[in-house]
Formats: sequence, structure tokens, C-alpha cells
Amino acid sequence: MNIAVVGTGYVGLVSGACLAEFGHRVVCMDKAAERIEELRRGGIPIYEPGLDELVAKNVREGRLSFTTDLAEAMDGARAVFIAVGTPSQRRGNGYADLTYIYQAAAEIAGLLGNEYTVIIDKSTVPVGTGRQVRRIIAEANPRADFDVASNPEFLREGAAITDFMRPDRVVIGVDNERAAEVLQEIYNPLYLNATPFVVTSIETAELSKYAANAFLAMKISFINEMANLCEAVGADVKPLARAIGLDGRIGGKFLHPGPGYGGSCFPKDTLALLRIAQEHGSSSRLVEAAVEVNAAQKGRMIKKIRDALGGSEAGKTIGVLGLTFKPETDDMREAPSLTILPALLEKGATVQVHDPQGMKEAAAIMPACRYVENAYEAAAGADALVLLTEWNQYRALDLQRLRESMKTPLFIDLRNVYEPEKMTDAGFTYVGVGRLK
Ligand code: UDX
Repeated sequence: MNIAVVGTGYVGLVSGACLAEFGHRVVCMDKAAERIEELRRGGIPIYEPGLDELVAKNVREGRLSFTTDLAEAMDGARAVFIAVGTPSQRRGNGYADLTYIYQAAAEIAGLLGNEYTVIIDKSTVPVGTGRQVRRIIAEANPRADFDVASNPEFLREGAAITDFMRPDRVVIGVDNERAAEVLQEIYNPLYLNATPFVVTSIETAELSKYAANAFLAMKISFINEMANLCEAVGADVKPLARAIGLDGRIGGKFLHPGPGYGGSCFPKDTLALLRIAQEHGSSSRLVEAAVEVNAAQKGRMIKKIRDALGGSEAGKTIGVLGLTFKPETDDMREAPSLTILPALLEKGATVQVHDPQGMKEAAAIMPACRYVENAYEAAAGADALVLLTEWNQYRALDLQRLRESMKTPLFIDLRNVYEPEKMTDAGFTYVGVGRLK
């Protein structure tokens, strides 16, 4: 099938490459000329493991190409994916900014010919957006033969390709069988792999994406609260998470306490869900609480560092490992480091930090930090070393080398990567999240 993908951000680019890998002929379109030029040269504007090879392979085999021209992308396309950004309107107000979606809809409308085309929302959009897109297109081009579908994307950064190619499920929101058939044809390779499909209304599909992300955010906030409770009562959150997670109804995933969730999805989507609820005269007190707990968790981490340093950060040198909101990405959006590090700097600490991917962007936002080459440089002369993002390269550090280079061997492990006992044996004062000393 010929497919156009509008938007070459995370979701657009990964979807485009994976759909091409399924055997479709995919043209990815973006207005950003530099981005398209870079892609045409074989460059990948984001860091995602395996994406460069997948793009290169499909370009080479003639199934994937890039353009700034929507007409060229849509030429002969039976499906047009909209995968443009839906940022929060203003930091914190929770409304998703749909300008790019509606712009794309209007431009697509002008290019629809006589052939039946399905316009598919891949971006995470508030309930009702699909209908709105349909209205915009129908008004702009009354003769167009088209349907609108919602097909939310559940991929995780860092595991995007596997998540797309081997998803737990595919959600398809449509309001008629004809559109459903096109979607089913697109995802045919997954049918063959026995991937479950949920075919439902457009509104249900739209809401399911928010509900999934809100539930996961709630799970993280829950385990963060349990970690805090463990600290209060002298219990250990690691075996506790295992004990509850082995109950199949709860499930062991997403029960790792830490500095709070970040990234491009959970913070934005939880707030958007609350807005959607509010606009419809409803609410979600559980999701509200998850958001509050997440904000408070960052504050708790700052206090944890201060307490471990004996009550003050002033004049202290703090080494930090990790800046991105999670490993295997260069994404700094809503990363806990963006709240925690400025607070340490403000209290008069010297912060020396390393991250395998995030330093360039972080340096532009937090120029007052010292950016260093590796974990050992971050530890050099430090009064404390804080592990903030659990990159693999921080999981097997040479503890002796680390300890010897530090001024004080204080290890604050905000991801519970290391075992308290092992760290104590290695001569460190160890502070985890919800762990027994
Ligand atoms: C998430 C969803 O997982 C994905 O389905 C959706 O499409 C987009 O949002 P992503 O933001 O890439 O994906 O990252 P994810 O791996 O889910 O982690 C999100 C945040 O939660 C990270 O900051 C991570 O550190 C944190 N987290 C995750 C925890 O603190 N504890 C956990 O147990 C799991």
C-alpha cells in the first residue's frame, strides 16, 4: 500500500520506517526542510537504537523516502498518517496544542482526489479531535471520499522499533468497516503474528491512549509513595515491589521507584486527561494525585541529597550520572534532572555531570553545570555522587576507582541500581530510594 506520513518526529519517523519494513511504500513528509535534507543524506535527527539501520535499509530497498512536499507524499496514497507534534499549549496548563493537527488536516483536504483515502491520527490527541479533523476535511473538500481513523501509538523511546513491530496490541478507532479494512491491511503482518487488535470507536481509541499512560503514571507514583513509606517504617521497596508485582493482577512492570516520571508522554498526557475530564464535567482524582505525587517526588529527591550531605549543599561538589528522562534516549523533555540540578546549583553546589546522550541539550538549558567525559570524572573530588538515569554504562562502575576519586564516598542512587550491602562493603555510604540501609 502507498502510505504518506505527515511529521517526522519520534512517532512519525519510527512509524514510517516500520511501515516500510512491513512492505508498504511510505513517503514521510515534514515542513522542516533541514530535517528532510538530513534524512535524505542518511542522518537521523533523533537517537533511537536501530532506527538508522532500519531507515537506511528501507530507503535502499526503495520503500521509504522523504519530502517537504505534501502533494508528492500523498500521490497515490490510500492512507495518510498524521504524526505531527501536540505539545502542551503553555507549560503546565494541560491543554494539548492542536494547531499542527488542524493545519495538517486542512492541507491534506486540499490534496484529496477521487480515490478513497483514510486519514489516520497517530499523534496523541484529545477526545473529539478525530471528529474535528473529519469536519475540517469535509468542509474544505466536500467531494473528497475519505474516512478518519484513530490509531494511537504506544511505543516507548529507546524500544520504539520493537514496540512498533511487536506491540502488545493495536488500537484502531473507526466508525465504519471500510476504514477498518484499510487499517487491517496496513497492519496485516501483525495479524499474522497474532497481535491482538482492539477495533472500537474513534473516541474510545483516543481516550485509550490517555488512559494507558495515566495508569502507568499512577503505577509509578504509587510505587514512589510506597518507597517513601518504606523509608518511614524501615521496610525495603525492592522485595515489596516483587512481592506485589508477582500477583498477576498487579504485574511486576513499572514498579521501579525513582525521581519521578518524565519524558514527552506521561507528564503531558496526564495533564491532558485531567483537562479532557474537566471540559466534560468529569474528573479523575486518582490521576490528579499521580501528578501531584510525581511533582513532590522531585522535591523529595532534592531533600534526600541535602540530608545525605549533612543538611546543606552549599560549597559541596556533587557528581551526577545521567540527565535524560530515561536511558537509551537523548530526550531531555520533563527530565527530573531539569528540576533537581538547578535546585542544587541554586543552593551553592558545584554540579559536575555526565550523560551519554543528553549533555548537549542540557548544556544549553543548564549552563552552570560542568559537563564531563565520563562517570569517573563526574566523581572526581565529589562530596557525593548521584545516579539519576540508569544508563547501562553506570550499572557496572569500577567501585574502587570511583571511591578513590571522590572526596567523600557518598553514593546516592535515585534508581536503585546498586545493592545497599554491596555498596557498603565497597566502602560507600549508600542512599537509595525506599531501600533498607
Ligand atoms: C511512555 C509509555 O511507556 C509509552 O507506552 C507511550 O507511548 C509514551 O510514554 P516513554 O515516555 O518513552 O513511553 O518512557 P517509559 O519507558 O514509559 O518511561 C517513562 C518515565 O517513567 C521515565 O521517566 C521512567 O524513568 C519512569 N519510570 C518508568 C519509573 O520511574 N519507574 C518505572 O517503573 C517505569
